[in-house]
Amino acid sequence: MHTQVPEGLDRREAELYVKLDPKRLPRHIAIIMDGNGRWARKRHMPRVAGHRAGVAAVRSTVETAARIGVPALTLYAFSVENWKLRPRSETEFLMGLLRRYLKKELPTLQRSNVRLEYIGRKQELPQDVQERMGWARDATAENSGMRLTLALNYGARSELVDAVNDIVRVAISNGGLEHLRVDEHLIQQHLYTRHLPDPDLLIRTSGEMRLSNFLLWQAAYAEIYVTPTLWPEFRGRHLLEAILEYQKRERRYGGLLEPDGSSAH
Ligand code: FPP
Repeated sequence: MHTQVPEGLDRREAELYVKLDPKRLPRHIAIIMDGNGRWARKRHMPRVAGHRAGVAAVRSTVETAARIGVPALTLYAFSVENWKLRPRSETEFLMGLLRRYLKKELPTLQRSNVRLEYIGRKQELPQDVQERMGWARDATAENSGMRLTLALNYGARSELVDAVNDIVRVAISNGGLEHLRVDEHLIQQHLYTRHLPDPDLLIRTSGEMRLSNFLLWQAAYAEIYVTPTLWPEFRGRHLLEAILEYQKRERRYGGLLEPDGSSAH
């Protein structure tokens, strides 16, 4: 049987795509985009040149994911720690890059039928960046394709802190804490990602074996794929390679594998 290759894939991507099972794509892919600084250092360029080059990787990854029908993609663009621990000049550059990205890439997002959303403490970002973010989100709100979520000023621990505070606030305004019963579903309903399925596949570039405070709750059963490729060199074909590897793994969710190869959970 011949697999129908989606329009727009290049030759290498098409070669990888035909090896995939299109019915078993991850429902949500999350990516820790790492290695911009190392990419720049290897070229004797300033770190920010690596961030600038990272935009092409974002474009290629988003386009390919949308083309093959991945329902949700989340990119870790900027952590709460980045905000505190990097020189001001670098965070300012990243904010400028984000502002320009949102404007320049909007036509690509529209063409790809992508709906843009955000997770993180947006209210702490510069006002003009927040406005541009709102503008791009609203412009894509009616698109029906892939949900692209940018994690900006995001930290998984702050997300859990915000969720707990929210749960307590809602309970108090509904008559008090005596009747509050906390379970996993309630916590999930108060996370920034409440509208998204948990990630099935979590990719980290540039070889580091860490979660770095990214989606700690949601990644409980995610398959983790670490590639030595530095983020500025990552392209749609690398995404397809990661999905192929994901499809080779057995997912067990803490249970046993069924005789037919499916997992019992
Ligand atoms: C990590 O590389 C990357 C970041 C902190 C920023 C990610 C930003 C981009 C990819 C740019 C564009 C993205 C959008 C959505 C506009 P690093 O600096 O930690 O690399 P290093 O570990 O090699 O130093």
